[in-house]
Order: sequence, then C-alpha cells, then structure tokens
Amino acid sequence: MKNIAIFASGTGSNAKKIVAHFRDNTAINVALIVSNKPTAKVLDMANDNNIPTLIINRADFYKSTSILDDLEKYQIDFIALAGFLWLIPAYLVKAFPNKMINIHPALLPKYGGKGMYGHHVHKAVCKNKETESGITLHYVNEHYDEGNIIFQATCPIAPTDTPTDIAGNVLKLEHYYFPRILQSLLSDS
Ligand code: GRF
Repeated sequence: MKNIAIFASGTGSNAKKIVAHFRDNTAINVALIVSNKPTAKVLDMANDNNIPTLIINRADFYKSTSILDDLEKYQIDFIALAGFLWLIPAYLVKAFPNKMINIHPALLPKYGGKGMYGHHVHKAVCKNKETESGITLHYVNEHYDEGNIIFQATCPIAPTDTPTDIAGNVLKLEHYYFPRILQSLLSDS
C-alpha cells in the first residue's frame, strides 16, 4: 500500500477529487490531510471521509522538523500539494525526493512564483490576453513553482473570457488530471 498525504489549505476541491479517485483503490490510499488553516473546508471533507487530519503552525513547520515524525507515523510515501501556499522547507524537500508534487493553475514557467496563486494567476493571464492557459504538475523544491515539470494540459481562452471563466476551465483540468497523474507516478515508483 502506498500512502499519500495531501497538503491543502483552501476549499479542497482537488483534494476531494483525489480522495474519491482512490477510494476503492487497494494499492494507493489517501492517509492524511495536512492544513495550516484550522477552519479550512478541506478538513470537513477529510472528516466526512474518515481521513486523519493534521493542523500545522508556522513556527513548528519552519523551525523544527516535527512534521517528519507525523508523516512517518502515517507511513506517508508521497505528498500532493493541492492549494497549499506555504513554501516547503528544505528538510521536507530532502525527505521526499521526487515524491512531492504541486499543481499550479497556469502554464509554468509563466505565471508562477510568490504571490502567483488563485485569482492572481487568472487575472494576470487575462490581462496579458493569452490565448490559452492550463495546468502544470511539477515536483516541489525549495522555490515556489520551480521544480521539474511532470505534466501540462491546456485550455483555450476566448477573447471574451473573464478571469473567472479561465479559473473554471482550469479547475476542470485540475480535477481530471491531478488524480490520474498521481496514480501514474505512484504506480511507477
Ligand atoms: C487550485 O487552483 C490549485 O491549482 C492551486 O490551488 C487551488 C486549490 O483549489 N494550487 P482547491 O482548494 O483544490 O479547490
């Protein structure tokens, strides 16, 4: 059995898709949901699905390595960042070499980096009159959105599309591909 931890701090719509995708899988299991926000909706989803949760705080995350003990306790093999905004510290990157991925709602290397998340991304894409956007799944390193790219998928942008329209189309791609790419990476490793 391979155990995934999902790190998420928002609504958790991606996390929910991942949980549903692996629900009946006997080889891959979502074993833990980690969040830095005690009120994040993703935690309700975890509770509804009887998945253990871990709330982390900034001081412990950056000034200790205690999360490694938690990840070991749940025998975590792989980490999926799904709407987790904190930079991942070096000790955690080292502990999960090529075993931690993030999804970004644009076609990296464009529209990435600190502050480029959620609506900020789609607004910038729209402002620049891009004709397409999409998703990037990439390995995580110590820099925002800079790890090696694993997979991208695109969606067209019509001249009349608003940032909200773009966000909706990108989210559809995320929901479809994130669980499937995770499955293929976990089946190969
Ligand atoms: C997604 O757009 C993802 O690309 C980004 O954060 C958002 C999370 O959305 N990293 P949700 O919480 O899964 O709905």
